[in-house]
Amino acid sequence: MTRSSAALGKDLIGLEPLSRRQIRMILDTAEPFKEISERRIKKVPMLRGKTIVNLFFEASTRTRISFEFAEKRLSADTVNIGAVGSSVSKGETLVDTARNLEAMRIDMVVIRHWSPGAASFLAARIPSNVINAGDGAHEHPTQGLLDILTLRDHFSRLEGLKVCIVGDVLHSRVARSNIFGLVTLGAKVAVCGPRTLMPAGIEELGVRVFGRVEAAIEWADALNVLRLQLERMQDGFVPSLREYNRVFGITRERLEWAPRDLLILHPGPINRGVEIDSDVADGPHSVILQQVTNGVAIRMAVLYLLAGGAPDLAEAAKSGKGVRG
Ligand code: CP
Repeated sequence: MTRSSAALGKDLIGLEPLSRRQIRMILDTAEPFKEISERRIKKVPMLRGKTIVNLFFEASTRTRISFEFAEKRLSADTVNIGAVGSSVSKGETLVDTARNLEAMRIDMVVIRHWSPGAASFLAARIPSNVINAGDGAHEHPTQGLLDILTLRDHFSRLEGLKVCIVGDVLHSRVARSNIFGLVTLGAKVAVCGPRTLMPAGIEELGVRVFGRVEAAIEWADALNVLRLQLERMQDGFVPSLREYNRVFGITRERLEWAPRDLLILHPGPINRGVEIDSDVADGPHSVILQQVTNGVAIRMAVLYLLAGGAPDLAEAAKSGKGVRG
C-alpha cells in the first residue's frame, strides 16, 4: 500500500511539479518548527513510531546531518546507509537495496544519488515516502525550499523579489530547484555565469541571463552564489579558478558598486576565494549559516507533511500531537 499525504502526495522529488499553494504550505509549516530547534529539549513526538532510512550515495555534510537532526527532533527512528559499507559496494541495485529495507517495514526513504532521476525511479517502485536529497544535476528540493525560506525571512515577500543565481548553473540541482520554486512564487529570477556553465535553453525556465556579474549585482536584491562543482567537470569549463574569481567571483570590491545592500546566499560547501571571497561569505550581508539553520525546519516540515501531518501545525506543535499512524 502506498502512503500518500493529502497535502503533498507520496513523495517530494522536486519543486517543479509543486503548486504555489503547496510550496507556501511547506514554508508556513516550517515556521513553528524553527522554534523547536531553539528549545533546551529539541524534541517533539510527531513522528514517533516512524522509521526513516537515509540513503546517501554521494558525499554530504549539510543535507545528511540536517535530515538526521530533523528526524530525531520529530522522534522518528532513523538508519543511515552509504554506498561504502553497504551491499551497494558489492553491486546490489538501488531497487534491491530499497526492497530489502522495505522488508524491514520502513516508512520513508531520504535519498541522495549521483544519477538524475534516481529518486523518482525509486519512488515509483516502493510504497514508502521518498524524499529527494539531491539527484545528480536534476533537483535538490529541500535546499531550494530552505533558500526560499531564508529569502522570505529577510525580505518578508517573494513576489517581485529579484534573485540572481551566480555560477555553475549547468551542474546545479540547487539552481534548478530555486528557479522552479521562486518562479512559481512570483519572484524575478536571473542567472549569471560563463556561457560554458549555462545550460542551453535556460531562458525557457523563465529566467533572465546575465553574462557580466557587475550587471547582475546592479539588478538584484539577492545573490545565491553557487559552488564551482569541480568534481563534475571533466572538461575545462573555465580557464582557471583564479580567472573565474577575477571575472565572476563575488568580492567585497564588486559589492561596493551595488546600488543597494545585497543579501548573499550560498548553499555550501564554499570554495573560498573562487566563487566567493571570505570577507563576503563571513560578512554582514551573508545569510549562509541562517540557510543551514532553516534547513532543519524545512526538513522537519517536509517529513511531517509527507507523513500525513496537518498543515495547520502551530496548534499541533504546541500540543506535541503526532501524525496519523
Ligand atoms: N547544500 C548541500 O547540499 O550541501 P551538502 O552537499 O553538504 O549536503
